[in-house]
Amino acid sequence: MSLAIVILAAGEGSRMKSSLPKVLHTICGEPMIRFVLKSAERLNPEKIVVIVGHQAELVKNAVGNVQCVVQDKQLGTGHAVSVTKEMLSDFSGTVMVLSGDTPLVRAETLDNLFATHTENGAAASIITARLENPTGYGRIIRSEDGSIVTAIVEEKDATEEQKTINEVNTGTYCFDKEKLFEALKQVDNNNRQGEYYLTDVIKILRNRGEKVVASMTDSPDEVMGVNNRVHLAEADRVMRRTINEGLMHSGVTIIDPETTYISPDVEIGKDTVIYPMTFIRGTTKIGESCVIGPFSRLENCTIGNSATIDSSVMRESVAEDHADIGPFSHIRPGTLVKTGAKVGGFVEIKKSQIGVQSKVPHLSYIGDTFIGDYVNIGAGSITCNYDGAQKHQTIIEDDVFIGSDTMLVAPVKIGKGAFTGAGSVITKDVPADSLAVERTDQFIVNNWAKRKRKAKDTSNM
Ligand code: UD1
Ligand code: CA
Repeated sequence: MSLAIVILAAGEGSRMKSSLPKVLHTICGEPMIRFVLKSAERLNPEKIVVIVGHQAELVKNAVGNVQCVVQDKQLGTGHAVSVTKEMLSDFSGTVMVLSGDTPLVRAETLDNLFATHTENGAAASIITARLENPTGYGRIIRSEDGSIVTAIVEEKDATEEQKTINEVNTGTYCFDKEKLFEALKQVDNNNRQGEYYLTDVIKILRNRGEKVVASMTDSPDEVMGVNNRVHLAEADRVMRRTINEGLMHSGVTIIDPETTYISPDVEIGKDTVIYPMTFIRGTTKIGESCVIGPFSRLENCTIGNSATIDSSVMRESVAEDHADIGPFSHIRPGTLVKTGAKVGGFVEIKKSQIGVQSKVPHLSYIGDTFIGDYVNIGAGSITCNYDGAQKHQTIIEDDVFIGSDTMLVAPVKIGKGAFTGAGSVITKDVPADSLAVERTDQFIVNNWAKRKRKAKDTSNM
């Protein structure tokens, strides 16, 4: 049986009270719509179509190469599905409809829905859920003996009696394509919201004697719709737990899963330990036996094995095996911390390489710099990479020793094995194996302090 998946994402999401379209609000660091897309893609359907409308360009950017169709005016979920008609004109089979605001739905659940739909030869199949608090959802109306779904009634149109029904529509459906579009023609907007409801298709199909199947999920969390920011936080919590449990089962220690925030595409090797209040985002990959956190944020980084990152921020950068970073450092994009290198406390690094076993242990700024292997950078040293107009490069070759508080005014090169004296402002290249000192000679005034004290004592008498 062939399958096309339509994802509803044209609405504004007015209950979010946001200038950002609802489906772009993030859970676990990723826009909600991406979770829905990922589950959809795992079914390998013939087609996926995303219906965009409100701030369409923003939503299109977030879905990448997936086909989009624009619903100019958001006249309701039924109207939204009907705008895909042309795009699906050469398709026949099952149309699965998903909602961009239902990010927790798993591919397995969708697969089961599709299988049930196909086995039953149904015109429509719905996933329903029984909720303790069904407020806000469409209610499932069943025949007297409960065996047949006859309609879905939206909360706003429901009678007081219907509102007591706690079986709800999750907004996740399969339809026979021809029957769906035929029924959509009959949907009107005579309801409290003045919208063309997709949910009305159920009653229309039933009235035609078509088969409608409802399968109730036993994991209602998974099909929750995110309509406001309270739901958003709830969905984030559920997804966070799912991601963290997956990692723990694969051999990662997470000391406190409640306060560890990991995005869905992150990979972490076994025996790595993640301490609390740590955010690991984007496409970050971490090797085995690392110690990450507490209080760290990693975005789109690659970390080797046995590395340590403590109380630090690291973005778009690489740290190789046994790298040791932090506490309290900031590794900015384009940095490579090579094997066994150390970046200590209160260090900021940007677009630089720190060579094998090299050390930048205390209070430094290193920008646009190439540091070779076995280099030591003394405390408080800084690369002065910016002259107010342009950025310049600093090159520090292997085995160099930079004295504390050296200012390296770029462009400048320190040759292999050279030293700089503490407190120097280095503006000229330093040849290999030499010493560069830039400071006035120290002079001594003998007994100066003693005389001063004596003078003070006499004036006090
Ligand atoms: C919808 C269902 C409700 C169900 C609930 C499950 C309808 C009429 N109601 O209600 O039965 O219990 O989902 O979460 O379908 N959208 C468009 N174009 C539009 C309107 C909406 O693309 O013109 C999109 C929205 O962006 C959203 C999705 O459709 O992703 C659902 O719309 P929403 O307004 O959230 O519907 P609910 O009130 O939650
Ligand atoms: Ca919704």
